[in-house]
Formats: sequence, C-alpha cells, structure tokens
Amino acid sequence: MTTADTITLALSKGRIFEETLPLLKAAGIEVTEDPEKSRKLILPTNRPDVRVVLVRATDVPTYVEHGGADLGVAGKDVLLEHEGQGLYQPLDLNIARCRMSVAVRADFDYAGVVKQGSRIRVATKYVNIARDHFANKGVHVDIIKLYGSMELAPLTGLADAIVDLVSTGNTLKANKLVEVEPIMDISSRLVVNQASLKLKREPIRQLIAAFESAIPKN
Ligand code: ATP
Ligand code: PRP
Repeated sequence: MTTADTITLALSKGRIFEETLPLLKAAGIEVTEDPEKSRKLILPTNRPDVRVVLVRATDVPTYVEHGGADLGVAGKDVLLEHEGQGLYQPLDLNIARCRMSVAVRADFDYAGVVKQGSRIRVATKYVNIARDHFANKGVHVDIIKLYGSMELAPLTGLADAIVDLVSTGNTLKANKLVEVEPIMDISSRLVVNQASLKLKREPIRQLIAAFESAIPKN
C-alpha cells in the first residue's frame, strides 16, 4: 500500500487513461500533466492527496494486488488472465468496451473442423480465456502464446485461429480474417487493494461513489 495520506491510482496510457478522465472529473480529480507529452510515470493531480501511476495495462492488477497502487482500472480480459488473487472489484466502469472473439481466415472452415472434432491450433495473448472457452465447447486445442499481432498467425500458418479483442472489426478486416465466434463482452473494472480498502476507507469510498455516478450508459 502507498503512504497513508496518499491515494495512488494505476492506469495504462491510451484508451484506459482517456476513458477514466471523465470518471476522475466526477470525483473532482484532474490530472495536471498529459501522459502523451510527458515522460513521467507518476502524474500529479489537482488534489495533493491523489496521484496517478502509469503502468502497462497487464501490470495494473499486479500493482494493485501488491500495494504499489491503492486502486486501478483494468480490462476484464486482463483481470481474467491475471493469476493473482485478493483484488476487490467494486465497479464495472463500462469503458474500453469491446469483445473477445475467435477469428480465422475466410477460407478456414471453422464450423466443419469443430464438428469433426479435429484439433485446432489457436494463437492468442489470452491463454486462460481461450483454454476455458474451448474446454467448455469440448474442442481440443493447442494454444500458442503470443504477445501481440495475433492477426498474423493464421496468415502465416502459425495457427488456424486466434482469440483476440474486436471492437469495430477493422483490424480483422484489414488482415482478411473473419470473426466466427464471440466469447464474451469486455469492459474495464475498478480494482482496489484489500488493505487500502480498510486503511483508507473514507477517501476510497468517496472515489467509488463518484465513479459510480459517472459510469457511461450503453
Ligand atoms: P499491454 O500494453 O499491457 O500489452 P494493451 O496493449 O492490450 O496492453 P490497451 O490497448 O491500452 O493495452 O488496452 C487496454 C484495455 O482496453 C484492454 O485490456 C481491453 O480491455 C481494452 N481494449 C483493447 N482493445 C480495445 C479496442 N479496440 N476497443 C475498446 N477497448 C479495447
Ligand atoms: C486492439 C486489439 C485488436 C484491435 C481491435 O488493439 O488487440 O487488434 O484493438 O479493434 P478493432 O476491431 O476496432 O480494429 P489496439 O488498437 O489496442 O492495439 P494494440 O495491439 O497495440 O493493443
């Protein structure tokens, strides 16, 4: 946990930072430096007792779980892949919305292969989500862990299918892939360190209430 008189919020640069700004505003908090212009990883706010730390999206749960930050905002995808425990998740913030899906090359007969019961090679960054999904369907898979550019895997013959995030579908389209199966809707959640919740109860309770009042509607 960070020092007793400071609230530290872990955010990732890009869409999570941008989409969390209106929620912070509802809590009377304004970040006073632009992460796209500054090289700083600790950003001050208009409130002397609140600061933002910038971490990789996949590191947010780790920071919050181990007390490097009191709170954070992380995608459901990231939370399902995070192997730790003890994170309190009080709010679905309904931001950074997209879906997790299975995609293949247009000439790959996904339904046919599933029906036949053949093994499928699946490339993904989301190993836990993919494994659970195919296990629930009773489909045998070889999972190939990648850290990015999943779309390339079916195009190069590395895999038959990918499990990746889809929003507009433009990335799949640009790479001539088709979405064949949605797995789940994804949005980002507020996560809170358990000890902070007890020791910084009042400021954290106020922040949760303000965030809750500003959650965007569908
Ligand atoms: P890392 O930097 O740790 O590899 P990342 O590149 O996935 O993570 P972002 O692209 O900033 O980080 O995504 C942050 C979160 O936003 C994801 O965990 C997911 O929940 C959501 N997200 C990802 N892509 C989209 C998208 N195209 N539209 C909407 N939300 C998305
Ligand atoms: C995410 C995701 C997909 C893309 C889907 O990538 O990994 O590639 O968005 O969005 P679309 O359906 O609207 O095209 P992102 O833009 O975050 O880039 P990244 O791979 O650098 O994270």
